[in-house]
Amino acid sequence: MKTIKIGLLGLGNIGTGTYKALEMNRDEIEGNAGAHIEIVKILEKDVDRDRGIEVPAEKFTQDPDEIFNDPEIDIVIELLGGVEPAATFMETAMNHGKHVVTANKAAVAANYPRLTEAAAKNGIKFNYEASVGGAIPILTALKDTVRANKYTEVLGIVNGTTNYILHMMGTQGMSYEEALKDAQDKGFAEADPTADVEGIDAANKLSILIALMFGKYIHPKDIPTTGITEITKEKIDEAKSNDCVIKLIAHATLKEDGELDYEVRPTYIRTYHPLAGVLEEYNAVYIKANLVGKMMFYGPGAGPLPTASAVLGDVMEIARSMK
Ligand code: HSE
Repeated sequence: MKTIKIGLLGLGNIGTGTYKALEMNRDEIEGNAGAHIEIVKILEKDVDRDRGIEVPAEKFTQDPDEIFNDPEIDIVIELLGGVEPAATFMETAMNHGKHVVTANKAAVAANYPRLTEAAAKNGIKFNYEASVGGAIPILTALKDTVRANKYTEVLGIVNGTTNYILHMMGTQGMSYEEALKDAQDKGFAEADPTADVEGIDAANKLSILIALMFGKYIHPKDIPTTGITEITKEKIDEAKSNDCVIKLIAHATLKEDGELDYEVRPTYIRTYHPLAGVLEEYNAVYIKANLVGKMMFYGPGAGPLPTASAVLGDVMEIARSMK
């Protein structure tokens, strides 16, 4: 069996989850990919942190060029988070002929044309399934499986933190502050939850969905965005009395004149709509398309192992294509 060598950028929560998932499910992954998969180098400053995994010290480097210039490395997995230096590192890896896999929605959304053009120019694969909806295979479905359709609309619950907060406010009677603290205690929300609660993370994901579905690039900063910080118990109760729940919805519609409307905002959803049943930190993407009608993709949208599942699926797809 061929050996595929990987350079991993970042050993934070998702990087650690990916390393762990590869060890946990090695037989499943390698058997289905038809290749041995080896993480040979890891760009990470924090070597000593206890991550609950055994990583040989010689795998760590603090110099990204050691990964870019290593002719043996086939795939670079970028899990640094943030826009820069992540985007430049991905482009550099592509320019060195490496396939790139990432979960980084902020870097992909802010640099979609630059990264997809670099991938095409270098004839390498650029896979970013984990960047929207965590483990949900939504991007592969939109790009391949359902691509025969003309897409007309997408409504996404694409941020786990805010869905959890709204769910706890709606079902447990918590205030916004109590629900945010609970989300932070359970590890769903970041210590600085701004990007989640202000809707910025959902706008990044909507930008990627729009690019894939409608072939149009909208920078996330140009997507009108309202977060959930103004949602009160009173608003939740008012929604309930109208047989609705409030969800943070990333929405895009193709109008009859061919123009696209797009927005991220808290939205009343009827209790009988499938999106209303997306509870806790789960995500779902609901699409309308001319052959399938209405379709919903549902699953865990965040967390180290669910995200690792999509990252490793992308790696396996590349490994199969390399045989
Ligand atoms: N902070 C994100 C969320 C993580 O809560 O959904 C996954 O992209």
